[in-house]
Amino acid sequence: MKFFVDTADINEIENLLSTGFIDGVTTNPSLIAKQGEDMKEIIKAICSLVKGPVSAEVTATDQEMMLKEGEYLASIAKNITVKVPLTPNGLITCKKLREKGIMVNVTLCFSAGQALLAAKAGANFISPFIGRLEDIGEKGMDLIEDIVMIYENYGFETEVLVASVRSIQHVIDSAIIGAHVATLPPKIIHELYKHQLTDKGLKAFLDDWAKTGQSILPN
Ligand code: E4P
Repeated sequence: MKFFVDTADINEIENLLSTGFIDGVTTNPSLIAKQGEDMKEIIKAICSLVKGPVSAEVTATDQEMMLKEGEYLASIAKNITVKVPLTPNGLITCKKLREKGIMVNVTLCFSAGQALLAAKAGANFISPFIGRLEDIGEKGMDLIEDIVMIYENYGFETEVLVASVRSIQHVIDSAIIGAHVATLPPKIIHELYKHQLTDKGLKAFLDDWAKTGQSILPN
């Protein structure tokens, strides 16, 4: 399972890359706005750090401008994945960008039917938003299960990129289902390391070790 980090914060990305667990980055207009800096500069900087796919989202809603923005974003770096919303224009743009060999992530997916359309439009990634579904009382994980099954049934190559992740359990459930990618807020990546028994166990080992007065390396 691949882990992308869901942020436009360069410092966070740099810090997390050193873990060796980060396979890509996703951004969206809200995450970019939070940084208060020029979008192109942020995306350029992220792409210079990260080898894997970096999602950058179009903000136009009409087909012609979406395509222009997508082509422009793709010209920033080879690893750009253009993010388009799951709208009729977004899916037409997806198809056109794919015909030009540009990677596409279809975002704002909330149903299996939408995911089917994105796969048929040739998307490299589909981003179902599980946290936001749960915010309105629906079961986010059921959607992931359905999409993974539908894609397997037809051999679609579109990767299921679980988005709007809010907990470690979301990550575990996505992995059990077999989703290809999860994009995680930095906080969740840090939380994945943690278990109280790890901390407790390590403290006990180190306390016992200190009592021996030994050191592993020769003095
Ligand atoms: C990722 O591609 C999405 O933009 C992101 O995961 C949305 O997460 P949120 O629902 O926490 O804003």
